[in-house]
Amino acid sequence: MSKNVKPYKDSEVEKKKQVEQMFDNISENYDGLNRVISFGIDQKWRTKLIEMVKKTQPKFILDVATGTGDLAIAMADSSAEKIIGLDISAGMLQVGKYKIADKKLQERIEMVQADSENLPYEDNTFDAITVAFGVRNFEDLDKGLSEIYRVLRPGGIFVVLETSVPTKFPFKQGYKVYSNYVLPTIGKLFSKDKSAYKYLSESASVFPYGEKFNNILKKIGFTDVEDHPQTFGVSTIYSASKK
Ligand SMILES: C[S@@+](CC[C@H](N)C(=O)[O-])C[C@H]1O[C@@H](n2cnc3c(N)ncnc32)[C@H](O)[C@@H]1O
Repeated sequence: MSKNVKPYKDSEVEKKKQVEQMFDNISENYDGLNRVISFGIDQKWRTKLIEMVKKTQPKFILDVATGTGDLAIAMADSSAEKIIGLDISAGMLQVGKYKIADKKLQERIEMVQADSENLPYEDNTFDAITVAFGVRNFEDLDKGLSEIYRVLRPGGIFVVLETSVPTKFPFKQGYKVYSNYVLPTIGKLFSKDKSAYKYLSESASVFPYGEKFNNILKKIGFTDVEDHPQTFGVSTIYSASKK
């Protein structure tokens, strides 16, 4: 398993509480900074993920670690009857609720405060489950993924979008400079929470990706596991199913 990096290194508080507090702190400018730090490319990756989900024509979708709900909102442009956006941070969910109300999507998207490691749903409930940039924040990755596996219905699709690390020259070197210096500096300048963006880049650099993450998904029980590296390997989309 990867090193479990926490947002506030000097604090004894468990990772989950720290992550919740950190996302509450940055919720108001999360969307804006997100676009800046990824140069807007995250939108392209999200679109790809959504296309993979839409192809399976799910009726009931769960977006875990939904944050401010971008993925849940984008997936409303489909035949899905109900989409649940679930997150541990009340601050992130509140920003999402405003966006959903603005788009008059309250009937189809429900925002729920809960922990991905203890999902408040019965076994085999959802046709599709998504997580974008969420899994590396879980305190116990295996527990979070096992819960997702439990509530996914057999034949359903699970899609993850997560940061990864480019392995080829010169992208590997460029990525190092960007994540060690540029990203934490942008965060320091523009975010209320000075540690947050340092944590986001540190946690990205140690999180398992590619074959390693595929193997974790297989160990949990997922089938048809595939990884699709994006933009020189800066992020990866993983898809999987359940027998
Ligand atoms: C980087 S944000 C991603 C938000 C959104 N999915 C997106 O693509 O913009 C990570 C989110 O994971 C949530 N999170 C972290 N640990 C969680 C947990 N154990 N249960 C539910 N949500 C969690 C955080 O509160 C945060 O909103």
